[in-house]
Amino acid sequence: MSKVLITGGAGFIGSYVSRKLLEMGHEVVVYDAFVHYISPLKSVLKDFFELRFAGIVDQIDFRRGDTRDQAHLRRVILDTRPDRILHLAALPIADLSNRHSEEALTSILEGAVNVLEVLRDVDFVERFVYISSSMIYGDFEEIPAPEDHPKRPKDIYGGTKYAGEVMTETYGRRYGIPYSIIRPSAVYGPYDINRRVSQIFVENALLGKPITLFGGGHQNLDFTFVEDTARGIIQVMFHENGEGQAFNITYGRGYTLREFAEILQTHIPDLEIKIVEEEDVFRPKRGALSIEKAKKLVDYNPQVPLEEGIQRYLDAYRNLEVFDRGR
Ligand SMILES: NC(=O)c1ccc[n+]([C@@H]2O[C@H](COP(=O)([O-])OP(=O)(O)OC[C@H]3O[C@@H](n4cnc5c(N)ncnc54)[C@H](O)[C@@H]3O)[C@@H](O)[C@H]2O)c1
Repeated sequence: MSKVLITGGAGFIGSYVSRKLLEMGHEVVVYDAFVHYISPLKSVLKDFFELRFAGIVDQIDFRRGDTRDQAHLRRVILDTRPDRILHLAALPIADLSNRHSEEALTSILEGAVNVLEVLRDVDFVERFVYISSSMIYGDFEEIPAPEDHPKRPKDIYGGTKYAGEVMTETYGRRYGIPYSIIRPSAVYGPYDINRRVSQIFVENALLGKPITLFGGGHQNLDFTFVEDTARGIIQVMFHENGEGQAFNITYGRGYTLREFAEILQTHIPDLEIKIVEEEDVFRPKRGALSIEKAKKLVDYNPQVPLEEGIQRYLDAYRNLEVFDRGR
């Protein structure tokens, strides 16, 4: 069995990966700075750490730490001696990366390079998995977008994520570090608190608030249920074919925001949908990503279509005690 150190493991995706790894019998070390990107006053979800880690807190070795602090990161890696490192820690929101570009650079790029710097000097890590994003492609010129699609990021987030990929490959070639790169997109599911569109829609719907579709709701995204993302990450991390490769890990189908809203409306018929034609022109035009490579090389097989994912997202919150409704 393996010991996996997950930077950013206390976050939304990291918590699902941790749970699955424990179910498989692996050991998990979470290295996380416990950062909030949005104002805590905007979150209506109560005790989200408890919800994410219900029943597994005591099985995880939590280490508080910032990837920008290389000396401390090194101490924790040497102390815990993981055989795999999953690197999720990063400022994860594109809009915020433009407003806080210095923080995006240090959080996304410097943090990744710091892990790679430690990996130069150790020989016990069998795989470093760098989590990138579909935002590295910029506007999709081909749909579904394959991994060798041109990389023309349109914001600081996509640019720094791509720079992290290049450094991962460079350290891999120069120092023989075994690595994999994963590009998720539009991950959704219970206990995300970063105010992504899926979260805003689901929470507003449950709390009886309207939702607004900007750009007419035509924006197309490859919405991926977080459990599929977690499964895909684990497939890549352990599969020998995953080494030295980059993979799109998504559901593999595009849905418009309007379609997302309409599925929600089948569950909550009095949901009010407002349509605004104005759109953010810097937002890359995206859609489905090709997952053929991951299917073929590492047996990735996403299981949750959007209709089922939304149902499961709503079910997790049906007990409205999870919300602080006084807000
Ligand atoms: N959620 C998505 O739709 C999506 C899509 C593509 C890529 N990603 C990437 O996946 C990763 C995880 O995203 P998420 O949705 O789980 O976000 P999240 O905010 O829930 O989790 C990120 C975690 O990283 C930690 N962290 C951030 N900076 C750190 C640092 N410098 N040192 C240590 N810990 C730090 C945070 O405390 C947080 O727990 C990110 O790299 C993100 O860019 C997410």
